[in-house]
Amino acid sequence: MSAYLNGEFLPRAEARVSVFDRGFLLGDGVYELIPVYSGKPFRLDAHLHRLQFSLDGIRLANPLGIEAWRERILQLIALQDFADQSVYIQVTRGTPVEGQPLRDHAFPQHAPPTVFMFAQPLVTATAEQKAAGVCAVSAVDNRWLRCNVKAISLLANLLLRQQAVDVACAETVMLRDGFLTEGAASNIFVVKDGVLKAPPPSNLMLTGITYDVVLELAARHGIAHETGPVTEAEVRHADELWMTSSTREIMAIVKLDGVPVGAGVPGPVARRMDALYQTFKQQVMRA
Ligand code: PDD
Repeated sequence: MSAYLNGEFLPRAEARVSVFDRGFLLGDGVYELIPVYSGKPFRLDAHLHRLQFSLDGIRLANPLGIEAWRERILQLIALQDFADQSVYIQVTRGTPVEGQPLRDHAFPQHAPPTVFMFAQPLVTATAEQKAAGVCAVSAVDNRWLRCNVKAISLLANLLLRQQAVDVACAETVMLRDGFLTEGAASNIFVVKDGVLKAPPPSNLMLTGITYDVVLELAARHGIAHETGPVTEAEVRHADELWMTSSTREIMAIVKLDGVPVGAGVPGPVARRMDALYQTFKQQVMRA
């Protein structure tokens, strides 16, 4: 199982970076996670576009062009002996060169960024798990105000997610000033009276690639949908509540803070969207 580090493909266990790497010391970097089906990366261009947005957001020059990224990612995928993968990409501000402070808030000069990638088997939910749905808890979104940057400094997200894990739930649904933002590691949708609704992209949430696909599929298949501010009351009185992400795909939340969502089972719109998503994947990726 190979990884990629700074221009080289090497066994995962041999990948090494300096303890003075700013990713390690300061959480100074960004990442992407790309699902791969049957060896084909899903929406690669959109992921690379989002990576560029994140790099711009932290004022780090992209160390590779689009074609170079594509080439390396495809090479990494080809080196794995499993077909469905999640490819993790991380770019940090690197390790300060000789003569520069070892740890400084100020950006180092002339430090080449660290580029690291690895792939893992992609494990998506089984039919049974989807039929059961998951539980979630709610919490106040206490993260910074640049949640559309996919930063590796995830401490707030980790602490928020752990609140769900502590009570054997799958996700934490976050609310800021009385409005839905997203999940600790997912986007959140509500359904009321057959209408699918999600918050609009903003600095308060990461615009998920899955989020985009869900809205596109809704448009293509005539499912009533809108984006707009979602109030806490809309979340608590939704007929359906979903989490979406590259690894969770479309997962129904059937209980929030111990209270059943709608009928307490995955709803018809979630089931339809999941079917559309699976078909879309098959058509696009396995063709
Ligand atoms: N996270 N919001 C947050 C905060 C996320 O961390 C993620 C995904 C998403 C959904 O994005 P996408 O649909 O592109 O996966 C939304 C990945 C899976 C992770 O951090 O592991």
